[in-house]
Amino acid sequence: MSPTQDLPPSPPYPAAAQQDINGVTTEPNGIKAQPKWSDYARVYDIVLCRTATYRTMLWDLLGKSGPLSAMCDGRVVFDLGCGTGNLSREILAAYPNTTLIAIDNDESMAMSFKEKLSKSLADKPTSGKACFMLGDISEAMAVLSDWGFKADYVFLVNVLFLIADPAAMLRQIASVLRTGGELRLSNPYDKTDLDNLFRSFQSDLLAQNEFESLETEFNALKSFNFKQLSPMLTRFSQASLMDVLKQSGFGKLNHVSQGHYGGQSLLISTSV
Ligand SMILES: C[S@@+](CC[C@H](N)C(=O)[O-])C[C@H]1O[C@@H](n2cnc3c(N)ncnc32)[C@H](O)[C@@H]1O
Repeated sequence: MSPTQDLPPSPPYPAAAQQDINGVTTEPNGIKAQPKWSDYARVYDIVLCRTATYRTMLWDLLGKSGPLSAMCDGRVVFDLGCGTGNLSREILAAYPNTTLIAIDNDESMAMSFKEKLSKSLADKPTSGKACFMLGDISEAMAVLSDWGFKADYVFLVNVLFLIADPAAMLRQIASVLRTGGELRLSNPYDKTDLDNLFRSFQSDLLAQNEFESLETEFNALKSFNFKQLSPMLTRFSQASLMDVLKQSGFGKLNHVSQGHYGGQSLLISTSV
């Protein structure tokens, strides 16, 4: 599906903030701090949810567009590093009997998630609901393993590039997947060109006559990506990520392609 055909519907949008937004944090000694997600959460939904590029990326992961197969409803799904909850919301909308576990360790992302999915929240894993766990992905998955909880689908969307020990995380994911379960991964890689990605966002907004009114938020999002995330974005080549996946126990590759997310990310489906 091309981004101009049959676009994923746009969800309700948060209002654009009026205050000055920077989105870049540097420690006094000049060392880059960890990404400050509270700055990101504010502008993330305002800008990205309005773009066909981002919404199509979410639909590609669910198999509602693009090369991946449609998912089965009624399954257990983990959304790791779920952020503000855009993918989780789409999962429950498309597959309403999903038992969804969403994990993120950032308070501001958690606040947005809980607001967005307020009608679907549950404090324990429940069919048709989202159970949000605030904490580190590895620690939360260890808790789920202790409960004997396994997943049919695990999503890792724009998260692996941030993880210090990706192989350890992927081994842990392999261990929590049920037989035949699937990891669906979207990740930047060594050919990612942020300029191209932001040109794609900008042209989506221009086509809707929204660019001018969102320029401040657009520039804040861009600045966060270029100044805080870009050093980590190109950690993997396709071949190196394939190697890490294989070594971590993912023996079956269902799909890999590079044309995802405005042509700037790897889209991978793999099973143990
Ligand atoms: C680039 S955002 C992507 C959010 C979401 N997956 C999406 O695509 O819209 C990365 C998210 O991963 C979360 N994150 C990064 N490292 C994490 C960790 N070790 N444990 C839990 N969450 C983590 C961040 O807080 C942030 O919300």
